[in-house]
Amino acid sequence: MPYAHITGWGMAVPESVLTNDDLSRIIDTNDAWIRDHTGIRERRIARESDFPSTLAVEASIKALKVANLKPTDIDLIICSTSSPEYIFPATACLIQDQLGASKAGAFDLLAACTGFIYATNMAAQSIRSGSIKNALVIGAETLSRFVDWQDRNTCILFGDGAGAFVLQASDEPGGVLSAVMHSDGSGGDSLSLPGGGSRIPATEATVHEGKHYIHMDGKAVFRFATRVMGHAAREALELAGLTTNDVQWIVPHQANFRIIETAAKYLKMPLERFVINVDRYGNTSTASIPIATVEAVEKGQIKSGDKIVLVGFGAGLTWGALVAHWTGPLSTERNVHPEIYPTWARVRSLLRRIIRFIEVLSGAETHSGLE
Ligand code: UT7
Repeated sequence: MPYAHITGWGMAVPESVLTNDDLSRIIDTNDAWIRDHTGIRERRIARESDFPSTLAVEASIKALKVANLKPTDIDLIICSTSSPEYIFPATACLIQDQLGASKAGAFDLLAACTGFIYATNMAAQSIRSGSIKNALVIGAETLSRFVDWQDRNTCILFGDGAGAFVLQASDEPGGVLSAVMHSDGSGGDSLSLPGGGSRIPATEATVHEGKHYIHMDGKAVFRFATRVMGHAAREALELAGLTTNDVQWIVPHQANFRIIETAAKYLKMPLERFVINVDRYGNTSTASIPIATVEAVEKGQIKSGDKIVLVGFGAGLTWGALVAHWTGPLSTERNVHPEIYPTWARVRSLLRRIIRFIEVLSGAETHSGLE
């Protein structure tokens, strides 16, 4: 049975920075309150031209470069997102098209902030089963588009961004070692975006009632998060036959510094072994774990040979953890330029549209001819 190694990684965040002081000019809040209660100092907010797919493509090209793969080498794209560009088509298909990943299957996965753990586990299982060789797993969000900027309970928390991993089959032991995935739908009301689905379709009234914004019972989510984070990490470690002593780094979902502190206490591990960047990006939901991992690798904190635990929680309610043996790229050659493929993909896509347009025109002529 092949092993599923994490062989490439990349991240992308919008350029625009929104600081706590900026927020205090919009709503009744202040820098000291936000830092004390969440640990957040600033977050990145999507510009008009930023979407989950554009951020994802930027992160994916970087990840493919590290793995030394072309977009056409990818068999499967899983995009975890809670802010898809459309209900359908899937954001993963937009990414597939923009990358020019012409041989890949593509689908979205929604497990909120835990989604990247679910998606990485699903990709690893597909590789282990032998059904695919190379997968691209992405966490991408622009939740700022669903935030009520008058609700100080939520608008201070969220930021935008994307992170991507390439997973590849190898006979060498390593890669994803174990994972646990949990859910409790009875807590779904504590964090939701009620409008816009088939139960509450968009109407003038739903817009007026604020149904298309994120709704959150912060205290309930806080209590749930502090209960499950450490427990899930320990469960995944046990499944891998490891203990916290065998692990170099924990990469937690970046929602709130106080939640991470509680998990560290539960696991009896020093905070220095937790990757933390919530101060600079806020809560980027499903993108937070890959963004934090990529930064830790690029800073030289996570190194080849390290064992790491990714652990998260989110709406659903969902939570989970994944243990990986970090090995790095399978091939150290650097001769692939995945960034040229999106240009070809755009040309191909344009040609396809022109052909479709001509087909429609000629169809219309035939039709009118029959009349
Ligand atoms: O990916 C999962 C996403 N969600 C989460 O992780 C959320 C988890 N929950 C939390 O992080 C925290 O519950 C919050 C940061 C949302 C809130 O912190 P808290 O310590 O639970 O504050 P609180 O809701 O108990 O509010 C305390 C006080 C209240 O005032 P009163 O009633 O005591 O006078 C709030 O009105 O702080 C007030 N408050 C604020 N003050 C200034 C709430 N939000 C703000 C704010 N600025 N932004």
